[in-house]
Amino acid sequence: MKIFLPINLLFFLFIVTKGSLEYLRPCTRPSVSSQHHRSDADPQQVHISLVGEEHMRISWITKDRKVQSLVEYGTTAGKYDESAVGETTSYRYFLYRSGEIHHVKIGPLEPSTTYYYRCGGYGPEFSFRTPPSAFPVEFAVAGDLGQTGWTESTLAHVGARDYDVFLLPGDLSYADFLQPLWDSFGRLVEPYASTRPWMVTQGNHDKEAFPIIYPHGFMAYNARWRMPYQESGSTTNLYYSFDVVGTHIIMLGSYTDYNVNSDQYKWLQSDLSKVDRVRTPWIFVLFHTPWYNSNRAHRGEGERMRKAMERTLYEARVDVVFAGHVHAYERFTRIYDGKADHCGPVHVTIGDGGNREGLATRFKNPSPSISLYREPSFGHGRLRVVNSSHAYWSWHRNNDTESPVADDGTWLESLSSSAACNQILVPSKFPKDEL
Ligand SMILES: *[C@@H]1O[C@H](CO)[C@@H](O)[C@H](O)[C@H]1NC(C)=O
Ligand SMILES: *[C@@H]1O[C@H](CO)[C@@H](O)[C@H](O)[C@H]1NC(C)=O
Ligand SMILES: [Fe+2]
Repeated sequence: MKIFLPINLLFFLFIVTKGSLEYLRPCTRPSVSSQHHRSDADPQQVHISLVGEEHMRISWITKDRKVQSLVEYGTTAGKYDESAVGETTSYRYFLYRSGEIHHVKIGPLEPSTTYYYRCGGYGPEFSFRTPPSAFPVEFAVAGDLGQTGWTESTLAHVGARDYDVFLLPGDLSYADFLQPLWDSFGRLVEPYASTRPWMVTQGNHDKEAFPIIYPHGFMAYNARWRMPYQESGSTTNLYYSFDVVGTHIIMLGSYTDYNVNSDQYKWLQSDLSKVDRVRTPWIFVLFHTPWYNSNRAHRGEGERMRKAMERTLYEARVDVVFAGHVHAYERFTRIYDGKADHCGPVHVTIGDGGNREGLATRFKNPSPSISLYREPSFGHGRLRVVNSSHAYWSWHRNNDTESPVADDGTWLESLSSSAACNQILVPSKFPKDEL
């Protein structure tokens, strides 16, 4: 361990000089450490993600480099009628060398079906349930997770009530350069991320760029949390999109180029131009740094990206934008260009997963009129899309034994079902009976 000390000091100075040390917030809980108890050949850090509407990617890590990238699966426990092989990767980061990272795509799979699977040919059995093929579908949402006692609390509340897909708007492990913390994060979330698909985008804590040596960053994030970017025509794991039950979900990168000449911007235009609002009446967008924020933390940090991309999202009639970064919960009205606009997206900041930096407790007063609910507490959100026109959003504050609904009763109506909003742009893409 001694050899790491000077490197830690270097990182610390690097972070301090970058000016991103934050003020101390109350109510943090100690970090938790998730140990590896299985053998070197056994899978660890198992998590799954959607690949198209009929496939799932199974990702896991082994210390033993000779383990085959094989997933066996079936619909009966202990009986594996199907199997698939995939690929492996690994990476080095200073003195750290990752285990063998396996990614295996399985399918085609049936909707609303529980599959049992094992990784590498033996070892423990896992199971997951595929999303349904028709409404309703339920998403659990929380960003800025980290790995503390509060993270455990958030995950326990997420797992306590059924849902189909977990959405994470950035900042996963808070490893912050210390690579073994990516491993302990993988083990901490495995009970949840191996049973329901986890669809993530990246945050500033996932970047881990270092001048000259690792200038682009996202080394660990990209290797470990591979998302279906090629399947959505993107050239990088840092932004992508996918469809699930009548919803088109776009994951953007707040820390990769987004200006009008950038690849991300062009990809976004192209992705939105292909959306068929009859097939996917809802569009949700996630990225890390909020465009709207009445908290005193991280003020204005999303402004450049907002200026570059807000109009595109508005014209495409995006229904909801989820962000993280600010460690609190805040829900806004529908907005465009700083003002309430009934054809703009609802903005939600949900960076309240429970990381070690604690809460962003100080909000600006008075509350701006576009901000409808705000609270600095750890928790998670639920988006239940009931049908093509209605979805129910609620926010659940963590509590030790239950998950009290704190921001309740918000019905959202899809913009594709709104006669006032769906006529303006690309009308052929909207439901005919509404025109
Ligand atoms: C959609 O769900 C809402 C809320 O339950 C309901 O009021 C509405 O009638 C439903 N619409 C359709 C077309 O089923
Ligand atoms: C947690 O629950 C207890 C008892 O149910 C309640 O008194 C307390 O206010 C709750 N705390 C929060 C933060 O909701
Ligand atoms: Fe962040």
